[in-house]
Amino acid sequence: MRIHLGADHAGFQLKEHVRRWLVASGHQVTDVGTHAEESVDYPDYAALVGTAVASGDADLGVLVCGTGLGMAIAANKVPGVRAVQASDSEMARMARLHNDANVISLPGRYVSPERAEEVLGAFIGAVFEGGRHQRRIDKISALDEREG
Ligand code: RB5
Repeated sequence: MRIHLGADHAGFQLKEHVRRWLVASGHQVTDVGTHAEESVDYPDYAALVGTAVASGDADLGVLVCGTGLGMAIAANKVPGVRAVQASDSEMARMARLHNDANVISLPGRYVSPERAEEVLGAFIGAVFEGGRHQRRIDKISALDEREG
């Protein structure tokens, strides 16, 4: 898959691990940064990854910050993005199956590299079920179209 990957300073170390793991797993990874541990602002990286996913340049996005929360909040401001924070494989899997999530945000300060691999593997390996869930996704997408 084509995966855009981004992190802030709090997610930098885990992002480095995740990039190596994704590449070793055969994915085409674009790392948008950050590339060092100096303090940066997570919305900048959420915007880069979210925009790539929404435009179709990436199939999925992976974000890492301290908690995964701020990245998810910011990425969800990009129309077309359905970002979820997850530190649990089952939640990550369900986010794909039912919510057609296209961005996952990991809490770099709260998951081990091994757990991150499990969570990402569950996310990437699951496929949206469609059916009744598509109607709900369409309603989420309609929220992107609202003005104001
Ligand atoms: C940075 O200290 C931290 O606030 C950020 O990485 C993230 O956890 C925000 O949601």
